[in-house]
Amino acid sequence: MRISECREEDVELLDRHMPFRGATSLHSLRYARHREGTGTFLVAWDGDRPVGSCEVRWEGCAAPEVRAVHPGCPEINGLGVWPETLRSQGIGTGLIREAEDLVSARECATVGLGVEKNNPRASALYRRLGYQPSTPYLDCWSYEDGAGITHRVADACIFMVKSLYPGPARP
Ligand SMILES: CC(C)(COP(=O)(O)OP(=O)(O)OC[C@H]1O[C@@H](n2cnc3c(N)ncnc32)[C@H](O)[C@@H]1OP(=O)(O)O)[C@@H](O)C(=O)NCCC(=O)NCCS
Repeated sequence: MRISECREEDVELLDRHMPFRGATSLHSLRYARHREGTGTFLVAWDGDRPVGSCEVRWEGCAAPEVRAVHPGCPEINGLGVWPETLRSQGIGTGLIREAEDLVSARECATVGLGVEKNNPRASALYRRLGYQPSTPYLDCWSYEDGAGITHRVADACIFMVKSLYPGPARP
């Protein structure tokens, strides 16, 4: 498994190999933020096939209630590993560690991520990696399906944070 920053030509591969509810817009959106510098879009590869991704959002969590408590805290967003058969093999952990290294390199003191309240396995993973639950919030986002229909979603989440000084702890 290797991890690299997303390139323009990777977006089509992500759409093909890591579809999300028929939507193609999410990978394009993340790549657009990568290009403009507000995000860093990381892709995990098994050979030539993308099998996981996440994004560092440098401006922090989109939810104002989280930004109010954690100003200037970058967010690791959109973590996913696909297909399901490749989960629990360390790919998600590898992506998080790569993201933490990027955040540390910019000398940010903390990093955070949001997890849905009904996702106890992901929450357990983040706790194992040193993230502490902090701020409840509503994650409001939308995606466009293959038919061009926009779906608006509001997920009840907890923002979890990790201190990165003196460097990412590696439990
Ligand atoms: C959460 C996720 C990204 C973790 O990636 P991963 O490569 O499986 O993670 P690792 O192998 O490094 O660590 C495995 C741990 O992830 C957690 N996990 C969360 N959801 C999981 C799932 N559906 N399948 C397997 N592990 C999952 C568990 O704590 C697991 O530990 P366990 O194997 O002891 O139960 C991945 O499982 C996934 O894509 N899940 C569905 C999407 C999702 O929930 N994303 C998180 C949004 S906050």
